[in-house]
Amino acid sequence: MDLMEFQAKELFAKHDVPVTTGIVATTADEAKAAAEQLGVVVVKAQVKAGGRGKAGGVKLAKTPDEAFEHATNILGMEIKGLTVHRVLIAPAVDIDQEYYFSFLLDRSNRSYLTIASVEGGVEIEEVAKTNPDAVRQVPIDAGTGVDEAKAREIVADAGFPADLTDQAVQTVQALWKVFVEEDATLVEVNPLARLSDGTLEALDGKVSLDENAEFRHDDHAAFEDKEAADPLEAKAKAKGLNYVKLDGAVGIIGNGAGLVMSTLDVVAYAGEKHSGVKPANFLDIGGGASAQVMADGLDVILGDEQVKSVFVNVFGGITSCDAVANGIKGALELLGDDATKPLVVRLDGNNVEEGRAILDELNHPLVTQVDTMDGAADKAAELANDARG
Ligand SMILES: Nc1ncnc2c1ncn2[C@@H]1O[C@H](COP(=O)(O)OP(=O)(O)OP(=O)(O)O)[C@@H](O)[C@H]1O
Ligand SMILES: [Mg+2]
Repeated sequence: MDLMEFQAKELFAKHDVPVTTGIVATTADEAKAAAEQLGVVVVKAQVKAGGRGKAGGVKLAKTPDEAFEHATNILGMEIKGLTVHRVLIAPAVDIDQEYYFSFLLDRSNRSYLTIASVEGGVEIEEVAKTNPDAVRQVPIDAGTGVDEAKAREIVADAGFPADLTDQAVQTVQALWKVFVEEDATLVEVNPLARLSDGTLEALDGKVSLDENAEFRHDDHAAFEDKEAADPLEAKAKAKGLNYVKLDGAVGIIGNGAGLVMSTLDVVAYAGEKHSGVKPANFLDIGGGASAQVMADGLDVILGDEQVKSVFVNVFGGITSCDAVANGIKGALELLGDDATKPLVVRLDGNNVEEGRAILDELNHPLVTQVDTMDGAADKAAELANDARG
């Protein structure tokens, strides 16, 4: 999960990274009130995208009225396709120098990495192109992490000015605490600024949190961006389903991520013969396809207006086909009149005969069984195309 600047700054403050958290405003009036409290401020768009400044989403306001005006312009603005719903009102500071600093997960080397540059403020990718020597990379051993000695090595390698060394070393260690203790995969500060009074301060922050570690951070749930989440994805998440909305017309349910991925391919391929219909979603119900899980999955998929047919593609393993067939039967009972779109079911694997017999006997008007994956994909695509008219 990517955080917005104001959220990243909350985590910075929690771990003693030098930062001013500022005040979040969702209306121009709130922005003005915040500026009355803080004095000269910077009004900053809060969206999960880079290049906010360039897009006109970061503006200096000398007076509360200016803050009101900037907030009026920035709220509702789109930056890289994302609508700005809030602005951060941050006290304006007098900047001497801007540096770049980040910790990230280096997947290709299976370790952590520091990227630091004394040429910060601008996009680091630009610096890497124009002056690659100024972008310093230091690998970090995950076992030992960043102790004071390592922090000194990083700071020396980056070439921070001597009079900033001690502050920079402390800041690097504090940022490492954010990275480790919050289970982040990225902690980036650009700019890390030297102010005219000689202090170092994080003026911007980007943090990505590792969702696999969500279970040990109850407080991270508050960072979720409710407005941006797709309502169907939010509903699926609440039910513990592994669902991703796509924009086609054939709903997909399968067991196992690999099977679901290949089902998407097969449906997209079959769809070419049926006016180009496409898969409507990814949904992996995993092992144990109980009636409840099947009903939850169908409920989410049928809630998608674009869906015209549903392809249930299950390979029976530990959860055998008869259990899945009973799951489908139970789901149709649970959903009753809410089940309104045709289902194409392909069962194979463990106890396939028993599973197919259960659905044959059910003889539900919405259910069609097809024995092969290609055949079922073709049928589901055809039904979706027919229903689109
Ligand atoms: N509190 C502040 N006081 C004075 N100047 C600031 C302040 N915050 C930011 N700035 C200036 O504005 C520039 C851009 O701000 P910031 O880094 O937060 O946004 P950005 O880099 O444009 O956005 P993104 O990080 O999304 O690309 C900074 O490099 C800095 O020069
Ligand atoms: Mg920045």
